[in-house]
Amino acid sequence: MPRHVLSLEDLPAEELSGLLDRGQRIKSHGLILDCLSGGCLVLLFEKASTRTRVSFEVAAREAGGYTLFMTPAESQLGRSEPLKDTARVLSRYAKGLVVRTFSQANLLELVRYADVPVINALSDSFHPCQVLSDLLTISERSPDLGQVTVAWIGDGNNVAQSWINAAAKLPFTLFLACPDGFEPDRDLVNRALGAGANIKLTRDPELAVSVADYVNTDVWASMGQEEEEKERLERFAPFRITSELLDHAPAGARVMHCLPAHRGQEISEEVLEGPASIVWDQAENRLHMQKALLEWVFGQ
Ligand code: CP
Ligand code: NVA
Repeated sequence: MPRHVLSLEDLPAEELSGLLDRGQRIKSHGLILDCLSGGCLVLLFEKASTRTRVSFEVAAREAGGYTLFMTPAESQLGRSEPLKDTARVLSRYAKGLVVRTFSQANLLELVRYADVPVINALSDSFHPCQVLSDLLTISERSPDLGQVTVAWIGDGNNVAQSWINAAAKLPFTLFLACPDGFEPDRDLVNRALGAGANIKLTRDPELAVSVADYVNTDVWASMGQEEEEKERLERFAPFRITSELLDHAPAGARVMHCLPAHRGQEISEEVLEGPASIVWDQAENRLHMQKALLEWVFGQ
């Protein structure tokens, strides 16, 4: 049975902790892997990417394999070949599929027909690889996750929803401050709460920030929501991460952003470039965690 990674809900808690330890070891020891043993990973991306694409491409090479990048526009998918046919064909060539798409249903369709592992490289619902590497960025500073509070300020989007999945598996506290109407999926939150997650929701960014060790944000309009951008700019204005907002945070609180950032929208230039920002470490850790993830998926 292939190990698919469509969301962090797919990962048992102990496997998630093990992945973080492994990511840290790969990073600190510069471990050379061979889990792809010469095989090809197909990257099928329907949306733009810098970090996810390049970190998977480099990680695949440094894990003994190689990648082939394709988009719907330059394949027969763009001319209406069904995903289910694409999944079966690609399974005959590749060791695995890394897929960035809009609908989570596309990933489920691929899993249904592919004989090889499928990894979610971002969908409208989740961004599990991002949150895996962000957890590494936090745990290398704060090894006791039970003592950590992460504030999520802004849109209850795909990245926020993967944080909710993670909170159901690991003992940190997640405090989300989202505008009315832009909260994460309620069923998802309830499932996480039912699994014992420490999750709180507020509409007050100052309140969430006031107890945060890590203040996390993301764009206000995700890829595919460009038409909503103007309305969102108005609705989200009180949720901008600025020095003034951070005045409410405990001393030493760090600021996170998965990038790309829109300076002056969800985060000020001053904060993004300031001493509290750990965004470049987050970006670096994408590479280390992609390697750990490839080993977990393919190294069985
Ligand atoms: N954070 C992230 O996923 O970046 P990309 O869109 O550049 O891959
Ligand atoms: N929420 C953002 C993340 C980008 C990495 C988006 O989906 O566009």
